[in-house]
Amino acid sequence: MGKPWKTIILAGGTGSRLYPLTHAVNKHLLPIYDKPMIYYPLSIMMLVGMRDFVLISSPDALPQLQRLLGDGSQWGVQFTYRAQERPGGIAQCFEIAADDIEGANVALILGDNIFYGSGLPEHISAAITYDGATIFGYEVANPSAFGVVTLDADDRPLALVEKPETPQSNLAVPGLYFYDDQVLEIARTLTPSARGELEITDVNKAYLAMGKLNVSRLNRGTAWLDGGSHSALYEAGQFIKVVEERTGLKIACPEEIAYRKGFISKPEFMALVDDGLDTEYQAYLRRIAREIG
Ligand code: G1P
Repeated sequence: MGKPWKTIILAGGTGSRLYPLTHAVNKHLLPIYDKPMIYYPLSIMMLVGMRDFVLISSPDALPQLQRLLGDGSQWGVQFTYRAQERPGGIAQCFEIAADDIEGANVALILGDNIFYGSGLPEHISAAITYDGATIFGYEVANPSAFGVVTLDADDRPLALVEKPETPQSNLAVPGLYFYDDQVLEIARTLTPSARGELEITDVNKAYLAMGKLNVSRLNRGTAWLDGGSHSALYEAGQFIKVVEERTGLKIACPEEIAYRKGFISKPEFMALVDDGLDTEYQAYLRRIAREIG
């Protein structure tokens, strides 16, 4: 409680696994069906109630992200943009955002992680502890591709390993983390791993060693997807398309979320609805405006 939250969305990296898609376009601007990838992590954090964001990306991509997202005021949130000069691992983000996160609790979400599920924002909010760190565990078929957590019979964490060759559990750690205001200090003690990166798993291990790591399981009714490889990107797009077409509702529509959460007023929402464009997206917003009233 007490301390304000800052939310880092890390949209860095080179996206080399998606080459040539990412040769001229930053990965986080690529489409997941009908929206840019970054809308999805942004939306889940807005649904959790976060409003103060630090967006980190490459110097090349920042102007494009800024053109897409602006200063956030249109959605009742705030975006600060920071450049990652050279990709050096996820945990580098704390130093890059050092001035912004000073004295705050810090939420971090990776810009290519997509979360979807009934009651998920409530589950995430309820899991957050304000002393220490909160991470999540999600059962996957291929744990070796992720950070992996092992839990005891009472779901207390025993060990964390980054991309283990022989995983001791099938619980992957998604790219969604909540830290207290100690995280910057901890990140500053890290040294690069064998792959030359400051590992987020090492930050979590430091909290584990202090007995301050809380792990919450995301249940099997939750979808956790990412857009990190060609097939993952394609499948995530298909997933969003199938659910959106079946229900007629959009997943990760920041305008709708901002209005439903009360981040913006009715007149502010109407200004987004009537922005002079005649697109399928605008038609959806118009429908939402009629339905919510
Ligand atoms: C990173 C983290 C890993 C985590 C994954 C989630 O992996 O290092 O612990 O499970 O994100 O998407 P990377 O994207 O660096 O392969």
